[in-house]
Amino acid sequence: MKTIWQKGSSIHNDREWFDDFTASEDRGYDQYLIPHDIICNLAQSAMLQKIGVLTPSEYKSLSDALKSYFSKWEKGSFELSDEDEDVHSCIEKHLTNDCGDAGKKIHTGRSRNDQVMTDVRLFLKSQLLGLAGKWMDVLSELEQIVERHPNTYFAGLTHTQPAMPSSVDAWVAGYQDLLLSDLKAIMYAYGEVDRSPLGSAAGYGAPYFDLDRDFTSKLMGFSEVQNPVTAVQPGRGGQEKRVTDALGYGALTFNRMASDVVLFAHPMFGYVTLSDNQTSGSSIMPQKRNPDAWELIRAAYHPLAGTSTQLASVSANLTSGYHRDLQITKKAVMDAVFMSDKLATAVKHALAGLDFNTEACTKSLTPEVFATHEANRLVSGGMPFREAYREAARAVAEASVLSPTDLRNSYTVSGFPGNYDTAAYSKRKQPVQDWLSAEKQKQDDILHNLLRSK
Ligand code: ARG
Repeated sequence: MKTIWQKGSSIHNDREWFDDFTASEDRGYDQYLIPHDIICNLAQSAMLQKIGVLTPSEYKSLSDALKSYFSKWEKGSFELSDEDEDVHSCIEKHLTNDCGDAGKKIHTGRSRNDQVMTDVRLFLKSQLLGLAGKWMDVLSELEQIVERHPNTYFAGLTHTQPAMPSSVDAWVAGYQDLLLSDLKAIMYAYGEVDRSPLGSAAGYGAPYFDLDRDFTSKLMGFSEVQNPVTAVQPGRGGQEKRVTDALGYGALTFNRMASDVVLFAHPMFGYVTLSDNQTSGSSIMPQKRNPDAWELIRAAYHPLAGTSTQLASVSANLTSGYHRDLQITKKAVMDAVFMSDKLATAVKHALAGLDFNTEACTKSLTPEVFATHEANRLVSGGMPFREAYREAARAVAEASVLSPTDLRNSYTVSGFPGNYDTAAYSKRKQPVQDWLSAEKQKQDDILHNLLRSK
């Protein structure tokens, strides 16, 4: 492997282990950075022309070449080879081969240190929007469950014991609310990676050049420049952790939902039935319908929690500036993103095949589940709560089981079982939806302007 940083002509003949150890796995992850590194190069070359480092014809030759790499990449025919140390040197090599001296000038005023962070941030921005879209799809699947099961009540649990009546709409509304908070965590993480590190170079800027960092930032669609160049490298690891934490919040919501579903699908509960496409049978027990998808949905949170810890610990204790240690944050955050993407798809499909069983739900509403209703009924007749509590406790078995209509009427406050508040939900969802549409539009426009404009 010939690297862009080799100075002399002699190459030590015992280097294979070094390349294998430092670059081979990383190169696999750099494949995902190809389109982003092309965008970063397009912005860099436009800026270098603007400040007079490149002539207009040098710029034209670089930008034509870069656009052609992008379309090759779109067709699946632009890849890193084993000879490339990383995506940055791969593209610089192509530019030097195709554009001669102009290619040799492209690295003016930058370093692979700011380049890799620019690429990773562009990658994360696009992935986070995709993921947020998938979480919005999960919200829609949950809305469908409310539509499919109006007026369906079952015994809600505390300590996994029958507690008080709950309802399908209340169960759904709880998770919708949590997922909307998780979406806000995505918005926050997105905001933090939406700052351009390009031009911070190795971590200390670039002398003699009047680099227009604002210009490259706008061209690539970042909302602002990360101004102190000394913040860029020490922030690597932390920003990946913020992203992974946001993904972890969603995974935690899905984990809790999955615990409910696994229990609800248990034959002794039977609140829900799961479609055939999400269960497995047993090789020995003919009766089994195992909730495999939901068990793996439940499990998915844990590796994400591990990744988050890993990201904090890789970047802890390092001094300012770049360290090669930071390279492994790329694999960690990318795996977290890919896993979260599959997780969101699985949750969406599993929810589409989740149905509540009215008969089993109704059967769960035994008299003792209405003990609190009974106590509160006595209180509304004038009895102090503590006395009513004891009275209801004495006659638990005689508490009256309410019909769905009476149950509905027993709760007057919005957000209580049977009182799904569509307006409150929409009010919380709309800003997230608006943010997502606006950012998607911005990303599409940026790509269009950079790649399709003449
Ligand atoms: N693969 C490297 C990383 O991800 C790119 C930056 C290399 N910089 C360096 N000084 N070796 O961190």
